[in-house]
Amino acid sequence: MTEWLKNAVFYEIYPQSFYDSNSDGIGDLRGITVKLDYIRELGCNAIWINPIYDSPFMDAGYDVRDYYKIAPRYGTMEDFEHLLGEAHKRDIKILLDLVPGHTSDTNEWFQKAKTGFPTEYDDRYIFTKCVWDAPPEYRLMCGVCERDGNYLVNYFSSQPALNYGFYEITHPEWQMSSDSPEAWATVDALKDIMRFWLDKGIDGFRVDMADSLVKNDDEKIATAKIWRDIRSMMDRDYPDAVLISEWCSPQRAIVNAGFHADFYLDHQGNGYNALFRKKMGDGENLSFFADGAHGDIDAFLAEYLPAYYYSKDYGYISFMTNNHDMPRAPFYMSEWMIRLTHAFMMTMPGVPFIYYGDEIAMRYRTDLVSKEGGFSRTGSRTPMQWNSEKNMGFSDADEDMLYLPVDHSEGSSTVESQINDPASVYSNLKNLIALRKANPELMNESGFEVVYSKANEYPFVYRRGSFTAFVNPSDDDKTVEYDTAGAKEYYFLGGYEINEGSVTIRSRSFLLIRHEQS
Ligand code: GLC
Ligand code: CA
Repeated sequence: MTEWLKNAVFYEIYPQSFYDSNSDGIGDLRGITVKLDYIRELGCNAIWINPIYDSPFMDAGYDVRDYYKIAPRYGTMEDFEHLLGEAHKRDIKILLDLVPGHTSDTNEWFQKAKTGFPTEYDDRYIFTKCVWDAPPEYRLMCGVCERDGNYLVNYFSSQPALNYGFYEITHPEWQMSSDSPEAWATVDALKDIMRFWLDKGIDGFRVDMADSLVKNDDEKIATAKIWRDIRSMMDRDYPDAVLISEWCSPQRAIVNAGFHADFYLDHQGNGYNALFRKKMGDGENLSFFADGAHGDIDAFLAEYLPAYYYSKDYGYISFMTNNHDMPRAPFYMSEWMIRLTHAFMMTMPGVPFIYYGDEIAMRYRTDLVSKEGGFSRTGSRTPMQWNSEKNMGFSDADEDMLYLPVDHSEGSSTVESQINDPASVYSNLKNLIALRKANPELMNESGFEVVYSKANEYPFVYRRGSFTAFVNPSDDDKTVEYDTAGAKEYYFLGGYEINEGSVTIRSRSFLLIRHEQS
């Protein structure tokens, strides 16, 4: 069963930037294999790899040309199978990225569908009936192919939306129902792809834009129905494999659609944003975790608590240190503050994800030209910084051949400089992962309870079984009444005082105490 997920700590790998094993300037599958021991050493027992399928890379591989082929720049199918085998030998799970909502416009299905001649893929995408038919409420590509009609895109213009039908039909001339055989033929094609990789032994998928399947489906009812159907295939035929959604709605993704876990993404105005990424246009940082903190814990709790209670019996909410779509943490906060966020994330319920390089606090680069559809995301996708050698150990290629430049800027960190330093961000995170894994209560064996929180105030105190965590990113020491009988310090950053009936948590500090069990 998928019990393993309960105790998982994931590492996200952006393959083009992780490690280049053949000196062509771009990361590859053999490069990941070489670094498996590094990942294990950090304490992660599962990996999510961004898309590695054949692609023209207009969106870094989220534009799939052939779901059944490894992109040559990453290696061969044998390289992948080798990676999977080596990962499993080390008890590391591997999740691939599944892109179900759209393909590249170079995908064979689309190449056929757009010809204007009848083919078996005519209903695989969403075309209007004729080119003069272009309702403004849809994101359509108009007049760009031989077929007499315009087609819907899901993301960039090179990513036509696959046809899973419409929940509400507003244009019956060209919209098919989400219950139509044509829509379900797309589901079958998706299942075939999934089976292909699951049969190879992968441990599941991170699912890209999981909520984007059925159109005009505001409540995501028909989209959830499709995922439920897929989930029952998984439960029946691949009971150990998991589905983790890029959705950011645990109620819908986990409870309705049947995902095993759902990402807590950074969305403007949501709880994740309020905790870690709330930077205003004028540069003012209103995150709860910020230097000179004056954020609002309630902005997080008001969203998180109902989502957590509603979904906790069905699956997990995934906190992430960052991902390939958003600026890395140093863009928002100091290294010290980052440590506090790591302590928080590693003591929360759910399944945490560490984005490659976040363990050494790699920086977000604002000086790069967009690469492969990265735009503002490009600065979070630079090569991993391994050591002080050529190209910071990422690649032996000439510098101008690199996928993206390595960060040589003053003070930029490397694995080499941090791994043996007990005071580094790396060591701190490694300790926290070990602490989490040593205590099932800190994973998902216990619940989550708020002990102390006040809108716009600090600290925040929460309980996980016999543990209680005190978080105070603010500049002032804070004292809260607390029954400290039998309580012992278990882990801390910064400073604290445990007194009878109260705990003082120093400014910019984190404290985990444990109550002796009777
Ligand atoms: C998801 C991916 C992102 C990609 C987009 C379109 O948001 O994380 O990187 O560009 O979907 O597939
Ligand atoms: Ca390479």
